[in-house]
Amino acid sequence: MKTKIKKLESQLKETEIKNSEALENFRLKFLSKKGELNNLFDEFKKMEGDAKRKFGKPLNILKQSFLSFFEEKKNELESVEDSDSEGTDKSLPVNGQQIGGRHPINKVREEIVEIFNNLGFILSEGPEIEDDWHNFSALNFPENHPARDMQDTFFVEKDTSLRTHTSSVQVRVMEGQKPPIRTISPGRVYRNEAISARANCFFHQVEGLYIDEGVSFADMKHTLFHFVQSFFGEDTKVRFRPSYFPFTEPSAEMDIWIGLDTEEDKRLSKGSGWLEIMGCGMVDPNVLENNNIDSKKFSGYAFGMGIDRIAMIRYGVKDLREFFYNDVRFLEQFSGV
Ligand code: DAH
Repeated sequence: MKTKIKKLESQLKETEIKNSEALENFRLKFLSKKGELNNLFDEFKKMEGDAKRKFGKPLNILKQSFLSFFEEKKNELESVEDSDSEGTDKSLPVNGQQIGGRHPINKVREEIVEIFNNLGFILSEGPEIEDDWHNFSALNFPENHPARDMQDTFFVEKDTSLRTHTSSVQVRVMEGQKPPIRTISPGRVYRNEAISARANCFFHQVEGLYIDEGVSFADMKHTLFHFVQSFFGEDTKVRFRPSYFPFTEPSAEMDIWIGLDTEEDKRLSKGSGWLEIMGCGMVDPNVLENNNIDSKKFSGYAFGMGIDRIAMIRYGVKDLREFFYNDVRFLEQFSGV
């Protein structure tokens, strides 16, 4: 009897149960009516006297350990099955893979950049944290001049700020390159403005710069007109209005005609039918000289436009903030555009 108990004990230790079939075999072999444990109990019943007293307890312990092993394995297998099948109907067809789309701001940016790439403008980029020289001084913003207040600045340190416009990249390009220069610089800019449907404390611009011998205002108008026709369509009407920027002379703003057909057109154009899409002008000779470019020999034009504004027009988005909530229901609408 003693050896039989020992043998069963070591058999139990070596048993591995990997699935419910193995568990059932285990139950049949050891715990069923004709199983090994019952056989042992049958033998035990036939014993008498001292022997009977001696083996009662170990036999019961043995049975108990088989029963608790069985229960434990049963629970383990059930919990694995539960988590496997939880919430999934395995008979359903496979879900199509969800494919993300490019962000509408990125799409518009890429399209703008591509139009200028095709005209020979080369992509350039600059840092978002800028020093006073690149964001202001080199661009002919005199110190303490009110023009610096045109753009409410987020300062990082006394002479360091988040760039307020991508015009800072013009300076970085002029520093590193000799004319002829043709560059297009997209990027994010920051201004300390009250957030509303039409204004945000950060937005996106594309800057353009063209410097060579004999570049004229007419060249600029022609290039920008070509851009507008490529982006908004052949029939788009434009106008240039005189304006002021410290870094260009003369300066202008370019409007496109969106008409007054809908309430939205009236609202966007403040009742005029015209919508401003960019600032531009001939690079001020001071800016060229600040960057060691001979202003007697070279001239150039520059322009800067807001990507977010253009994306709003293109997609009929009324609230600028929609672009940045990252609400999938909003973004999904652009996945096939
Ligand atoms: N930097 C100007 C702004 O953020 C836009 C601008 C105007 C850029 C005229 C230019 C330019 O390059 O020539 O409002």
